[in-house]
Order: sequence, then structure tokens, then C-alpha cells
Amino acid sequence: MIRADLTSLPTYVPGSLHGHPVKLSSNESSQGPLPGVTRAAAEALATANRYPDIVSHELRTTISEWLAGPSSLLLDADNVAVGAGSSSLIEQAVLATCRGGDAGDEVVYPWRSFEAYPILVRVAGATPVEVPLTAGHGNDLPAMAAAINEHTRLVIVCNPNNPSGTTVSREELITFLRAVPEDVQVLLDEAYIEYVREDDFPDGLGLLADFPNLAIARTFSKAYGLAGLRVGYLVGRPEFIEAVNKVCIPFSVSAVAQAAAVASIAARDELLQRTEETVTQRTRVLEHIPEAWRIPSQGNFVWLDLHERAAAFEKAMGEFGVAVRCFDGEGVRITITDEAETDVVVQALDALASEFFPER
Ligand SMILES: Cc1ncc(COP(=O)(O)O)c(C=O)c1O
Repeated sequence: MIRADLTSLPTYVPGSLHGHPVKLSSNESSQGPLPGVTRAAAEALATANRYPDIVSHELRTTISEWLAGPSSLLLDADNVAVGAGSSSLIEQAVLATCRGGDAGDEVVYPWRSFEAYPILVRVAGATPVEVPLTAGHGNDLPAMAAAINEHTRLVIVCNPNNPSGTTVSREELITFLRAVPEDVQVLLDEAYIEYVREDDFPDGLGLLADFPNLAIARTFSKAYGLAGLRVGYLVGRPEFIEAVNKVCIPFSVSAVAQAAAVASIAARDELLQRTEETVTQRTRVLEHIPEAWRIPSQGNFVWLDLHERAAAFEKAMGEFGVAVRCFDGEGVRITITDEAETDVVVQALDALASEFFPER
């Protein structure tokens, strides 16, 4: 018998191409893996008759040494979980904290935010508590803290927030973390951290020692260009990591993904250098959006709160060969990539400005 509640569950809508040559609908990198990464992945592919390392030992150790390095954090492999994308780790975090069934366990998260949150929470049998963004499109941390009650098991903070691109500052995050009861787990989703260029952006990793109920989810899908291989990581206290690993589907991170992630960490300087162009193009796109409509972004995307004109704007961008992500009735998110693709975006924005961005 199929679960009745699934009928009301929203389906994840992937960013589509709609036959348009410029795909800016999924916050992907426009550049493929580096040759060394492809080589490492190909070598792993040659042993695809074998199951991968179930505990992803090399990848977890590599991540812990990499992250411990610059910040002198006390991290080892027990502080790191890896999963089939950070989406999987977010779901595992829900499964590890919420009991499902009639327990009524709640997960608090900002909304609108990453569209998988409500799906992952509900599939895991937990109750979503969506806290609307601030008027400035940011995570409303005071309201999220106020939404915590005796049923709350997990709170997700999305920094920068997808799709609005806004961030919470270090001070705001610390004030929030102090307000969260110690037995409520906080998951800081930093999928886009590599694109952030703000001085007061919180170093989540640096807060782990002071806030043991904090864990941080990151991904190789964005700046590291491995979206198609499905690999992300979670950093937190060993007890939480162990719980997250218990609810994982065995062998869910393939040997190819593990090898590619290890090789990407080795090549991180070159990969992170690519984010410089994205940041330059982000500024350029924002400059082509009238000031009254401009929402500052620290992700590899910008958000246009077009409300009822969102679907028409998506269609109009399609006529320029650009696929964007429309949230009908709310807005449109445009991924920022390289100079050539941004040329098309700014040309389209200029042409559509008078129709879609009236004075306000
Ligand atoms: C905020 C946020 N978190 C997590 C993810 C998950 O990424 P992945 O599962 O590819 O690691 C995404 C993907 O778009 C995202 O936008």
C-alpha cells in the first residue's frame, strides 16, 4: 500500500533546458571537471565491478585534513560524513533527529529556500515548520528561533540562501545559535560558500567548538563542478556524524564520486580560482538589474522577485536562448556562470527591463 501523504508532496522540479542553449536553471558550474579529476574518476570506474569503500575513508580523512589545516580545528574523519550530494545528507540529518510516525517531530527552516527541504523533511516523516524570509529576502533568524518549541528536533539555516542569495552575518548567526536549546540540532547549509565575498560572513567551521549542536553541510556540486557525480559532506560532532551515517543507504557514494572528490580537493586552488569569474559576472548581472529590483547575492545566482510576472519572464528569457528557474508567482532565479553566458543574460536583461522592471 502506498503512503497516502505522498500525494500531497511537492515533486522536486529540476532546472530544465527547454531546448535553450544556455542552461542557467540549476546553479551548476558551466565548466567541467579538471583533467586530473576526470583521470582519477576514470581509474575508479575501472573497478566498478566492486562496491565502493562503504565508509569513504580516504575522502573523509582528506576532507578532515583539508578543513583542519587552515583553521587549526580539531577535526578527524569521525567529524565528517559524506553523502550522495548534500541533499542526501540533509535528509539523513532529518532521519537522524526526527522519529517519524505520529511523533510530531518538527524541522524549522526558512522559506522560500532550497526547494528540496520540504520534500526531504516530509519523506522522512517529520513535520515542516516554514519560517518566511525577511522583507529583505533573508533567513529570519529571530523568527526561526521563536518557532522552536518542544517538538523541534532540527533547524536548517541556509547561508547563502537559495534562491535569494542573501546571507546572515556572523553576529546574527551567533546570536541565533545562543538562542537555540542545546538539544536541538542546527544544520548550516553552506552549499554556496565558495562564492561568498563578504567580510562578516560567518565561518561555520570555526563555530563548531562553541556550539556542539551545530553541523555544516557542503557540496562538491557547485564550485567543484561535480553536480553529476553526487557527492557532498557534513561536518559535526562525532555522535551526530555517527547517527547520520546510520541512516544512510549503504554504498550510496560511488567510488567514482569518492575519487573525483579527493582529486578535486587536491586541485582546489585551481577550482576555486574559477569562482572569481562567477563573482565578477554576478556583479555584472546585478548592474544590469534596476536598483529597485536588485537583491544582493553571494551565491552563483541572482533572484528576481517578479511575483506574477515570473512565468512570463522565464518565457521571455527562453526567447534569448536562456533557461532560468521560475518559481511561479514568486520569482525567477538566474544562475551566474562565465563571461560568454553572461553576455547573453545582460543583453536579455537590457531588452526586457522596461517590460519587467517598472519603477517601484
Ligand atoms: C542550498 C542548497 N543546499 C543543498 C543543495 C544540494 O546540492 P547537492 O545535493 O547537489 O549536493 C543545493 C542544490 O542546489 C542547494 O541549493
